[in-house]
Amino acid sequence: MALRSKNLLGLKDLTADEIEYILNTAKTMKLILNSKNKKAPHLQGKSIVTLFYENSTRTRLSFELAAKYLSSSAANISAVGSSVAKGESLIDTAKTINMMGADVIILRHSMAGAPHLLAKNVDASVINAGDGMNEHPTQALLDIFTILDKKKTLKGLKVAIIGDIYHSRVARSNIWGMSKLGANVCVAGPSTLMPPEIEKTGVKVFTTVQEALIDADVVIALRIQKERQKSGLLPGIREYSRFFGLDEKRLKLAKKDAIILHPGPVNRGVELTTSVVDCDRSFINEQVTNGVAVRMALLYLLTRRDVN
Ligand code: CP
Repeated sequence: MALRSKNLLGLKDLTADEIEYILNTAKTMKLILNSKNKKAPHLQGKSIVTLFYENSTRTRLSFELAAKYLSSSAANISAVGSSVAKGESLIDTAKTINMMGADVIILRHSMAGAPHLLAKNVDASVINAGDGMNEHPTQALLDIFTILDKKKTLKGLKVAIIGDIYHSRVARSNIWGMSKLGANVCVAGPSTLMPPEIEKTGVKVFTTVQEALIDADVVIALRIQKERQKSGLLPGIREYSRFFGLDEKRLKLAKKDAIILHPGPVNRGVELTTSVVDCDRSFINEQVTNGVAVRMALLYLLTRRDVN
């Protein structure tokens, strides 16, 4: 099997088979990651560039380490400190990177659709590392990988996504990916932070966290994205925490073996109490490791393609 596209722009575009193919490859990559030597030749001779117009710790670093663990060259560029600050356009910046021989450009941008635009203008593969409020496909892939590792299947699982759904590209990618793999996804959050189009995705929408948590197999908490807020949407942080924050008492509504995930960075005491972040049902740290394995798999699969 091969991926149909040279780019990974969103989980909306992938089939269930393609998602499973990436995640199966990630299992092999995790073995390399867990080995003593952490080095394999899969990307020898390839060049990977991360181009980030927004802040990141996990996504950017995990792509760079993934590239290095597979013996690729890896370089990074940020909007701050580059010629973007002198007015160079996104497309011209990407074409410049392309002409230096990049095989993969990994883009994070505040504009929804920016990676799609780039993909039309460069020969390199383009990976979406988060575009505005649209998608964050590699985060959803690592979330799904983590769930499969713990629960073996997504089929029939109740996955509750709690928080700022409106601004969350993670929620959108997870809804696409998890629904394709047969999960029953529901969301809960303040009504001002619920996108109007959410009903069309087929997920259940709750306005209380309690309804979403009942018998959940997986609970995904999301950060309030203050950087994307228009005035009037955000409830006060204390009010948010009171009505939607997850503590051990609330989590008793979920199944006993429910697992807790969060894409990070976590605001302890807001969306999750510290005791929940650090409890034995929380796999937030494992998500970070799995993110490297998933990104190793993607870099490998996208660069071994001959066409498209
Ligand atoms: N989850 C995530 O995208 O984290 P970073 O913003 O640190 O990359």
